[in-house]
Amino acid sequence: MTALSPHVDLTGKISLVTGATGGMGQVITTRLARLGSTVMIVVRNPDSGEQLRRRVAAEVGADRVEVLTADLASQDDLHGLADRFTARHTALHLLINNVGAHYRERLLNADGVEMHIRSSTQASSTTSHTRS
Ligand SMILES: NC(=O)c1ccc[n+]([C@@H]2O[C@H](COP(=O)([O-])OP(=O)(O)OC[C@H]3O[C@@H](n4cnc5c(N)ncnc54)[C@H](OP(=O)(O)O)[C@@H]3O)[C@@H](O)[C@H]2O)c1
Repeated sequence: MTALSPHVDLTGKISLVTGATGGMGQVITTRLARLGSTVMIVVRNPDSGEQLRRRVAAEVGADRVEVLTADLASQDDLHGLADRFTARHTALHLLINNVGAHYRERLLNADGVEMHIRSSTQASSTTSHTRS
């Protein structure tokens, strides 16, 4: 049985999915919601997040997606994210560090960190270890 087998019941479980508006993120979000989980999606664009929430609710037949807005390349946003998550939920059962970005040119964020490392590696490390 795989972790996302149809026989798994995630009712009452809280999941958080980064990169939820991307190709993989949409599939993961839909699947987790179908299995009964409440799914917190982390998105840069709130309109895209709201669209995804509505589409998953229509597909699954239940409104189980909640939208959190954050740019995961921003240290401030990452720490604010932890605060906003804990304001809504007291437990996180599944963390899907799916965010990823690839840049043709070398880019630095506001803290001088190269963006590929920032978005794909440090962001996932911070979401895994940050407590508000
Ligand atoms: N697809 C593949 O074949 C494949 C293969 C191996 C590994 N992967 C890995 O799987 C993951 C998902 O892949 P994918 O193909 O679904 O990627 P994708 O379609 O390009 O989606 C990337 C997601 O990351 C989000 N994102 C990027 N930078 C962000 C930032 N600074 N803050 C917040 N969100 C940010 C994007 O948000 P926006 O919508 O705002 O841009 C989008 O939701 C990635 O980590 C990728 O490296 C994918």
